[in-house]
Amino acid sequence: QTVFVLNGPNLNLLGMREPHIYGHDTLDDIAAMLEDRGVELGLAVDLRQSNHEGHLVDWLHEAQAEGAKAVLLNAGAFTHTSVALYDAIKAVTVPVIEVHLSNPHAREAFRHKSYVGMAARGTIAGFGPASYLLALDAAAKL
Ligand code: DQA
Repeated sequence: QTVFVLNGPNLNLLGMREPHIYGHDTLDDIAAMLEDRGVELGLAVDLRQSNHEGHLVDWLHEAQAEGAKAVLLNAGAFTHTSVALYDAIKAVTVPVIEVHLSNPHAREAFRHKSYVGMAARGTIAGFGPASYLLALDAAAKL
């Protein structure tokens, strides 16, 4: 079974983007880590990134249509703004796990509200790239 790992805006710049907050690993590094863990768990990993909100909505629909086991969603800043993502998560039955590298609750007030978290099955945040691994483990247990 496949787990979709959907990444939103600016996450293509991981590794060089504010490394004191997000670390030095690139999204490719995270993809490789997830693929290895996926092999151990018997799960295929389909990792994607877009800077465009609608792509994330389309991919949530695709995960549903393809019968994905789960979606790990790091929606980046859209986490805090996107009613469209909230509605998309509510519209599908595939379980969505919210993921963040940083801990948004320990940061600026505008990051404390999460439209994704209000609709997601659960949230893993604050563990850097390991947030994704922990979320994949959680997906395997669903
Ligand atoms: C983030 C946290 C968001 O607040 C921020 O806008 C990001 C990255 C994280 O993974 O820590 O782009 O989702």
